[in-house]
Amino acid sequence: MSEAPRELDFGIKLDFMTGWSKGMQSIVRYAFGWRILHWAVAALVLTTIPIGLTMASRAEANIFDAVTNTFYAMHKAMGFTVLSLMILRILMKVRIGTPAYPAVMSRRLAIIAKSVHHLIYVLLLVTPLLGWAGVTAYPALIIAGGISLPPLPFVPQSEELAARLFAVHGILALTLGALVIGHIGAALRHLVIEKDGIFQRMWFGK
Ligand code: HEM
Ligand code: HEM
Repeated sequence: MSEAPRELDFGIKLDFMTGWSKGMQSIVRYAFGWRILHWAVAALVLTTIPIGLTMASRAEANIFDAVTNTFYAMHKAMGFTVLSLMILRILMKVRIGTPAYPAVMSRRLAIIAKSVHHLIYVLLLVTPLLGWAGVTAYPALIIAGGISLPPLPFVPQSEELAARLFAVHGILALTLGALVIGHIGAALRHLVIEKDGIFQRMWFGK
């Protein structure tokens, strides 16, 4: 996973003189398709986690009504969409690489940011995979109106296995949630306090 050199970058060069305060340099945005994928996955994950927590607590309380069922259906469909989009995103990451950080950002901070991003990537793959494995083992592949997910290959049917898979799925989802909260805090810090253009790498417009 190499970094794309600046001159080969697919994004737009932004002038720091037009709004950012740390020196006269230009920063490079993520490719347009990448930004679309980032915000699509972000919106899905920020919805999927609260839906997951709500439906699981309703199931725990033995409330299996239309609302709970709708939440399960939405959760499975959205989680599966995240998995599909992440496969696309990883292919893009391998092919395109990420734009280089501007020189104002310290090497240490760049390493921390990249490590957190990679961890989020891993969790965005493994968490939905375990959810899918769980509904395959249970089995509970039906989403709604005759639409079902395909079974995950090589996963045997067993409610006990499903319970274990869901337990790990829940822990990983909460870990992901904690990292995402830190990530959003860091992004907003770049936008409001640092004003170093890092936020604009993932944003649209001027
Ligand atoms: C990034 C994607 C996903 C995230 C962030 C996520 C998050 C969560 C969370 C936070 C819970 C509640 C855990 C708990 O309180 O115990 C949960 C439960 C659940 N998830 Fe996901 N999930 C994702 C993808 C999926 C997928 C793809 C499926 C299935 C196709 C799935 C199926 C389930 C099921 C069935 C439960 C309920 C488990 C139970 O009742 O014990 N999830 N998920
Ligand atoms: C309001 C919410 C969010 C904001 C403001 C935000 C902002 C940003 C910004 C500014 C970057 C570029 C940082 C850089 O170049 O170092 C970025 C990258 C990234 N964000 Fe977010 N983000 C948000 C939500 C999320 C969510 C929910 C996820 C995960 C589900 C996520 C995952 C990532 C990842 C993995 C990267 C690294 C770039 C990549 O490889 O795609 N972000 N985000």
